[in-house]
Amino acid sequence: MKPIQVGLLGIGTVGSGTFEVLRRNQGEIRRRAGRGIEISMVADLDVARARSIVGEGVQVVGDARAVIANPDIDVVVELIGGYGIAKALVLEAIAAGKHVVTANKALLAVHGTEIFAAAAAKGVMVAFEAAVAGGIPIIKSLREGLTANRIQWIAGIINGTTNFILSEMRDKGLDFDVVLKEAQRLGYAEADPTFDIEGVDAAHKATLMSAIAFGIPVQFDKAYVEGITQLGAADIRYAEQLGYRIKLLGITKRVAQGIELRVHPSLVPAKRLIANVEGAMNAVVVQGDAVGTTLYYGKGAGSEPTASAVIADLVDIARLQTADPLHRVPYLAFQPDAMSDTPVLPMSEVVTSYYLRLRVADEAGVLAQVTALLAGAGISIDAVLQREADEVGGEGATSTDLIILTHNTREGTMSDALARLQQLPTVLAPIVRIRKEELN
Ligand code: HSE
Repeated sequence: MKPIQVGLLGIGTVGSGTFEVLRRNQGEIRRRAGRGIEISMVADLDVARARSIVGEGVQVVGDARAVIANPDIDVVVELIGGYGIAKALVLEAIAAGKHVVTANKALLAVHGTEIFAAAAAKGVMVAFEAAVAGGIPIIKSLREGLTANRIQWIAGIINGTTNFILSEMRDKGLDFDVVLKEAQRLGYAEADPTFDIEGVDAAHKATLMSAIAFGIPVQFDKAYVEGITQLGAADIRYAEQLGYRIKLLGITKRVAQGIELRVHPSLVPAKRLIANVEGAMNAVVVQGDAVGTTLYYGKGAGSEPTASAVIADLVDIARLQTADPLHRVPYLAFQPDAMSDTPVLPMSEVVTSYYLRLRVADEAGVLAQVTALLAGAGISIDAVLQREADEVGGEGATSTDLIILTHNTREGTMSDALARLQQLPTVLAPIVRIRKEELN
């Protein structure tokens, strides 16, 4: 059977990795796919650079639409990123009857419903293993390996940049701004790392996992998104003293009233494996009713790890001709007519436990005042830690840090109680609230 013909849109870090791994492992890949996979056309704005990567024998163009218009191309691999031109090109490729492979989590999390509908109408595949957690085959695991399970929850470290920053803040006691500069210097963070540090990138990925786990449409607009920009080194230190690590988690969970979908910094018990995922690595924990807890760990970004995921999708597409076509897997794991309308819950309805840090006046009755207010709101306290004045402000300090761990509380109840606590004259600074996930 003639090799499947692939056109790349964009040959940056992931595109060049894809080209190299396909070249290096072509024999092995052909044996698995049942036919060869050939990149025969590449579009990139920097034609000279693209040519220097692929050499002769591959058609290089500056216009992505020339790839889509080429009748010999079977699959278009979109590696441009973003919601702009990438969306138009993906839809045009589908309209032209091409299968699409993309690493573009932003595009699918926001416009997935439209894109999957267009693909279904045309009978082509849209595959996106590379969009979530880079080289970790989490999409395939959720969609196929765990297909027997009723998934209960997923919690993942799915942004390497922020995990690197949090690891460095904890290891070296450095503040956020200092480590962000280091992450940029090392090339982990983008020059404009807003999507990383504000939690948006992780929320795109969590949105895709949520759809696949629960059979709901992709709904990025319903996700609660909070990044790590407000985290202080002191909170990381206090969490440590209480036996926790702070991680930016993407969480999606099935509860009685609906689906939770949220990204925020979370205290995780230090003894959990995921709490020990350091640096730019990614990890995802999935809880299924039959399998129990499973953990997936690996590189969430980078040239060849992400290429590994792109090529896995290309092999799946090649198998459309080499395997029984009736056994294709739906885009979002569930049959399109069996999608659920279970609502994604507003954040105020989420129930979780909390770490609170209050900078309070160091005087008699303050602790009693704070705990009485929490008790009045029905919020149960799990642990309290008060730092000695000399650790906070030195000899003669008039303020102290009060750290409180709570039991499970509805977010709306907690927000109301915090608003009232914040009004107390003895509470001297904005209260820090970090959610806590026991993941057990
Ligand atoms: N900026 C992303 C990260 C790259 O830091 O994980 C992979 O999506």
